Amino acid sequence: MSEQQWNAVDAYFTDLLVPEDDALRSAVAASDAAGLPQIAVAPNQGKLLHLLALTQGATRILEIGTLGGYSTIWLGRALPADGQLVSLEYSAEHADVARANLARAGLDKNVEVRVGPALDSLAALEAEGTAPFDFFFVDADKANNPHYVEWALKLSRPGSVIVVDNVVRGGSVLDATSEDPAIVGTRRMFEVVSEHPRLTATAVQTVGARGYDGLLLARVTG
Ligand code: SAH
Ligand code: DHB
Ligand code: MG
Repeated sequence: MSEQQWNAVDAYFTDLLVPEDDALRSAVAASDAAGLPQIAVAPNQGKLLHLLALTQGATRILEIGTLGGYSTIWLGRALPADGQLVSLEYSAEHADVARANLARAGLDKNVEVRVGPALDSLAALEAEGTAPFDFFFVDADKANNPHYVEWALKLSRPGSVIVVDNVVRGGSVLDATSEDPAIVGTRRMFEVVSEHPRLTATAVQTVGARGYDGLLLARVTG
């Protein structure tokens, strides 16, 4: 099984099932033109997020890690007309690119991009007494993943869904001796989730246009 074959199968699925429109195409083009790293979810992964949020009936979505807003567009399109998505982004430059991409997608009324370290923005959301979110997509600095899951729980309701991206990273998640903060953070996140009485979860490995990786899916119980 070669990476070339994973890419070919992803292209086959995407051609058939995941038509990209102008807003998505120009979000990628504008992100590339601005020099953003090419680490957005793949189109078929974006559509998976979209379908998960739709299935959840989400009216309030919290994303941690906006980049150029590519995953944000897929998630935002799962919202009803009066739905809300808050996306947290450290970089003001990334946020500017994302806001323009979201406006082109007609989602500027529904999406708020907040700039700053996500841990600060999460504390601010709590201090504001924000209503619970139905769906969370955690996709920022992996070192903070245990904290992001704890925050998602705090800002959730029973039945909320939490998706964490990039939990496999070529299999490096297995390296218990790693000192890479991203791996340490991801492994700690798995411990937090596995031990938490209010979470039921699974994780799956994925291959495709973004290499060998995976995602964690958790549901907040009563
Ligand atoms: N969800 C996006 C990809 C996000 S890439 C997509 O799939 O389209 C990860 C993003 O997290 C980057 O834009 C990076 O700037 C941001 N980030 C890194 N550390 C952060 C932090 N502490 N707080 C908020 N965002 C952070
Ligand atoms: C990286 C981050 C991501 O969110 C991703 O999907 C792929 C790679 C990274 O930091 O390298
Ligand atoms: Mg990611």
